[in-house]
Amino acid sequence: MKKILGLALIAISLASCGKKEEKKEEVLYPETALSAEEQLISNGKELFESNKAACASCHLADKKVIGPSIKDIAKIYKEQNASIFDFLRQKSEPIVDPSQYEVMKTNFAIIKSFSDEEIKSLEAYMLSL
Ligand code: HEC
Repeated sequence: MKKILGLALIAISLASCGKKEEKKEEVLYPETALSAEEQLISNGKELFESNKAACASCHLADKKVIGPSIKDIAKIYKEQNASIFDFLRQKSEPIVDPSQYEVMKTNFAIIKSFSDEEIKSLEAYMLSL
C-alpha cells in the first residue's frame, strides 16, 4: 500500500512538473517568437549583409551607391509585380537599371550556390524595405 501511494505521489509530481514546463513555454514564446515571415526577412538581412553574399557592398537601403538602393529595387519590383527570386535565378531580365547589368552579373557565380530558401530570404528582406 505504501509503495503504491509512493508511486502515485511520484506520478503526480512528475505530471505537475510537466505542466509547469508547458506553461513556461506558453508564456515565453509569444514574446520572443518571430513569425515565419519575420524570420525569413531576418535571415535575408543577415545573408544580404554577410561577407558570403556581399550584396550590401553595392546596395544600401535608401541610397544609390554602385547599385540601385534596395528601396528603389523593391519599389520597381512591386510596381511591376515582378519576381526578385526569378531575377536572382537568372530566369528574368533586369528591369531596374539594365545599362548596369554587367556589374550585377558578376554576382551570379556566388548566387548560384545559394539554396532556394536563401534566395527567398533575400527577396523577402529586399521587399520588406
Ligand atoms: C558589385 C556590385 C554589386 C553587388 C555585390 C550586388 N549587386 Fe545587385 N546590382 C548591382 C548593379 C550595378 C545593379 C543595377 C543593374 C541591374 O539592374 O541589373 C544591381 C541590380 C540588382 C537588382 C535589380 C535587378 C533588375 O531587375 O534590374 C537586384 C534584385 C539585385 N541587384 C540584388 C542583389 C543581391 C541579392 C546581391 C547579393 C547577392 C547583389 N545584388 C549584389 C550591383 C551589385
